[in-house]
Amino acid sequence: MEIHRFEKAWLGFALLLIVGLIATITYGAVGPGVAMISDSGGTIDSSALGEHEQFSDPGVRQVGENEYDVYVVAQQFIFRPGTNEPITLPADSTVTFHVASADVIHGFSITGTNVNTMAIPGQVSKITVEFDDPQTYGLVCHEYCGAAHHEMAGTIEVVP
Ligand code: CUA
Repeated sequence: MEIHRFEKAWLGFALLLIVGLIATITYGAVGPGVAMISDSGGTIDSSALGEHEQFSDPGVRQVGENEYDVYVVAQQFIFRPGTNEPITLPADSTVTFHVASADVIHGFSITGTNVNTMAIPGQVSKITVEFDDPQTYGLVCHEYCGAAHHEMAGTIEVVP
């Protein structure tokens, strides 16, 4: 069957739109001074975080010259660290967050950026972020996790 020339043109246009849409989603909306590099994880026993090598004492670990690992426990209704004490990191650093939930599903979203993940019981969410300039970021839980979900927030301080 012969494809009409007009139809062909519209088909091409539609394909272009689809490719454009995917490209926009893939490379879109990056927040100021921040770039999300990857989003992957592993498994964990959420009921035994206290016995975990890293999550029993969550916080910032320096792993390279400008590289840091940050272990964060999300639980009703705080981030440890983050809520009671800020997560403090130097500017011009590459930071991998490892986020584990101690109870239910939580969110982990750095406000004003495209950095966000979910903390699902039984899994570790791992995201790598580049922090360029000194700035204070908000950290919020963007998954409903119970009565005080709206109060579950924290702070990330990127310092010179
Ligand atoms: Cu934790 Cu919403």
